[in-house]
Amino acid sequence: MKRVLVTRQVFPEVVARLRERFEVDHNDADVPYTPAQMAERAAMADGILATVMDKVDEDVLAAAPGLKVVSNIAVGYNNVDVAAATKRGIRVTNTPGVLDDTTADLTWALLMAAARRIAEGDAFVRRGEWKIAFTMSAFLGADLHHATLGILGMGRIGQAIAKRATGFDMRVLYHNRSRLPEADEKRLNATWVERDCLLAESDFIVVMVPYSPAVHHFIKAEDFAKMKPTAVFVNTARGGIVDDAALIEALRAKRIAAAGVDVFEGEPALNPGYLGLSNVVLTPHIGSASRATRLRMCETAVTNLTAVLEGRTPPHLVNPQVLQGDKA
Ligand code: GLV
Repeated sequence: MKRVLVTRQVFPEVVARLRERFEVDHNDADVPYTPAQMAERAAMADGILATVMDKVDEDVLAAAPGLKVVSNIAVGYNNVDVAAATKRGIRVTNTPGVLDDTTADLTWALLMAAARRIAEGDAFVRRGEWKIAFTMSAFLGADLHHATLGILGMGRIGQAIAKRATGFDMRVLYHNRSRLPEADEKRLNATWVERDCLLAESDFIVVMVPYSPAVHHFIKAEDFAKMKPTAVFVNTARGGIVDDAALIEALRAKRIAAAGVDVFEGEPALNPGYLGLSNVVLTPHIGSASRATRLRMCETAVTNLTAVLEGRTPPHLVNPQVLQGDKA
């Protein structure tokens, strides 16, 4: 029987489905493995079901001679050394599509929370500081409706974010390396603009590009300097896409008005500068965190993994070059 390592706790029904076909080593304790533990557990595995926080690097791959597939339970896969896996003929898979709407919802939750100062108001009420029922100028925020939303990165999730802007009668600008077909721009009511134009004209700015070293600090101090002082910025993409120190400084100096952040450089460690700021809403990497979506992600990952271990091409292969190696 083939052996599968499940690096973190997943739903019982997912483990049960795996056990129908494979011998399963499940990290039910849910304490992330150290790099040494990861290499040790991977050593016997034919397949790994991993989360975005599990580093599957050259050392892990080298320790696992029987490994055929790393199936990430995520759309992102920057935790996996894909080039090293490809060289070894190991398939890497992800779970695109199933989390787009849920991540777009969270992006909007942060946009609204930051714009309307929800977390600040909640903390104020809980501290018992609400003494006068109505104060004309208290907790004034920004209107989303009829404002301009700028989306940097217009893939599936970016488009799901854009779609939601229609209900708020927003003007939608986007910047992407490649323009969408005209029919999609029309459907989403979105206009392609140069990056600097988007930064300067948007009231709300969302970044949604996949992480790779090439886009490390894709948003940095000079970008915040180009935004409106009233701008609200949201990062639900990936830690490292945004220079956290630069965002903290922009928020501290009121260079921009507010932000919502779900993903951080080096998470779960956090730049402590965030903690003293009232104009930022922080969530712990929960973009895809609804039960239905997390279950769909697990199911997609199991389908990918099973396909490889049963000798088929998985539906969501991120390194198709590996198939060339099979023929060589
Ligand atoms: C989550 O961060 C994912 O990439 O799916």
